[in-house]
Amino acid sequence: MTKSFYITTPIYYVNASPHIGHAYTTIVADVLARYHRMIGEKTFFVTGTDEHGDKVAEAAQKAGITAQQYADKISAQFRSLCPELSISNDYFIRTTDANHVETVRYILQKVYDAGDIYFGSYGGYYCFGCERFLTEKEMVDKKCPEHSREPRYIEEKNYFFKMSKYQDWLINHIKKNPDFIRPERYKNEVLAFLRDPLEDLCISRPKSRLKWGISLPFDENYVTYVWFDALINYVTALGYPNGQNFKTFWPVAEHLIAKDILKPHGIYWPTMLKAAGIEPYRHLNVHGYWNIDQSKMSKSLGNIVRPLDLKDKYGLDAFRYFLLREMVFGLDSNFSEEAFVGRLNSDLANDLGNLVSRAVTMAVKYCDGKVPKIGGKEKTDVLQEATLKTVAEVEAGFTDMSLHKALIAIWDFINITNKYIVENEPWALGKDPANKDKLSAIMHNLLSALCSIAILLLPFVPQTAKKILRQIGIYEAEKLNLNSIRKNNALKVGSTLTRCESLFPRIVQEKRNNSSKKKSPVSNLKPEINYEEFSRVDLRVAKILAVETIPRSDKLLKLKIDIGEERIIVAGIAKDYTPEELIGRQVLVVANLKPVKLMGVESYGMLLATDTDTDKGLTILTFDREAKTGGNVR
Ligand code: MSP
Repeated sequence: MTKSFYITTPIYYVNASPHIGHAYTTIVADVLARYHRMIGEKTFFVTGTDEHGDKVAEAAQKAGITAQQYADKISAQFRSLCPELSISNDYFIRTTDANHVETVRYILQKVYDAGDIYFGSYGGYYCFGCERFLTEKEMVDKKCPEHSREPRYIEEKNYFFKMSKYQDWLINHIKKNPDFIRPERYKNEVLAFLRDPLEDLCISRPKSRLKWGISLPFDENYVTYVWFDALINYVTALGYPNGQNFKTFWPVAEHLIAKDILKPHGIYWPTMLKAAGIEPYRHLNVHGYWNIDQSKMSKSLGNIVRPLDLKDKYGLDAFRYFLLREMVFGLDSNFSEEAFVGRLNSDLANDLGNLVSRAVTMAVKYCDGKVPKIGGKEKTDVLQEATLKTVAEVEAGFTDMSLHKALIAIWDFINITNKYIVENEPWALGKDPANKDKLSAIMHNLLSALCSIAILLLPFVPQTAKKILRQIGIYEAEKLNLNSIRKNNALKVGSTLTRCESLFPRIVQEKRNNSSKKKSPVSNLKPEINYEEFSRVDLRVAKILAVETIPRSDKLLKLKIDIGEERIIVAGIAKDYTPEELIGRQVLVVANLKPVKLMGVESYGMLLATDTDTDKGLTILTFDREAKTGGNVR
């Protein structure tokens, strides 16, 4: 019977645009889906967006549009990212889809009817970043460690799912199925969590506080808690309860997530499934976090790396390769553009790119532009052995989710093939026609190795793999699989060879100066603040009434300003402006900074200025028409 494979990514919140963390999970899922399709398994791959809840409602309110409009806009960004990153998903789910709403209400009613949902009252610390209540134990210095914010204490009447009832069942299930949650460190984390009594899960929000959600089927005054809603996407996408896809794919469900959402997936979801009478998923596969230049990536820290910027700058396959090769599945990894370019140059341009270009160029030259046959008695050789070993290592990498190991194995093979060229010196053999048979055998073996490398690369870097195959006369990549490698029957003697432009041109590392920083997709914005924090800064239009130099300071000027009242402020612009240039001008000042003494002069505010483009000093912020002196700046 044909084997099946079901792979899911988390469905991403639509409160922010996609970044490389989202891209990574989706690309790993894509590689898995492509591999399982290639080895002949019936495959279903789902990704999508999580659109209800406080976070989205809040983001929409800030943007001044409805939650639905906001969700439509950001969901479209995630959806369009898929073709941009060559993601081969079979389905894109949105939690606002009508079939999902229906499935959530169906499951809620089922669990309610079974007596596992009750009405009660609860007070607890709610983290809006995680969209869940935190236990005292999970907090560090009274803050959510994930979002570095203090959770808000919320007390209200709500509906609860009897999660505690399933605690022992879950512990047993995890112990009986040691790779239910993998790698092991995350299984241990979940088991450690389950050592304490599990609380019941609050699964509703009163509409008086949050309207943006799926109404409970048994009480229209409440919406469904966003995690209870979101997790169900994994079965909605298969047409639960009656869809054929559900029957085919649910028994082999593989979830892929990062460590941030281990608890909802490792605890809420299996217990929800149990209560709804659905079998548990097969595996929860948990990867680590991408950090950026050694610090955590988050919108609030302002160091977001956007996948499309990297793709546009360096090419899609270079981006896919770097992410897949660099991260050891399960552990955190660091992203830096330097490391990215380093790998691109060494692994892709040097090792792979050069191999393809040398092999095809020589084969065109020595074999009349056609795939040669193995002449005479020349037998297969060292490359054959390396091929089979690599196939086995790649298979092992997919079985235990260590895709980086699969890539290391492929690169070892690439290097063996490069060495084969050096050791066999085709250019020397080509000088004497007596070597014709030997030369064509060597070139055949070389092209055959190239063919195997390309097939092995198909799930990882599909565009590059297809480009290699086309150069050696193979145009139907979809028909290839690991057996084509084992049987060595993909490469056809007599096919026309076609040289193409270089696969990966070398990138000259940009120097880390100001101008390269400007172009970098890694933004260096300051951490996000909310409007309330911003509004505490009193920005005013000030008119400069008088200017004095300050003795012994070549940088500072003492300005008398009018902001509806007269003030003295000190500004460091003496090298950039003369007093005459300044008098009478309207400038922007922060009026409520604590006074400071500079070179003996008390300053009651701060004038705003920025660097000039030419790095020749400062330019003050002014207005492009007469403003109201003392007026507020919003
Ligand atoms: N909406 C929930 C998931 C519901 S699934 C039923 C959610 N969304 S999210 O937009 O915050 O996405 C979290 C996921 O994005 C992570 O689990 C991971 O897959 C990916 N990543 C987000 N940041 C990441 C890194 N810095 N590094 C690696 N992956 C990251 O949680």
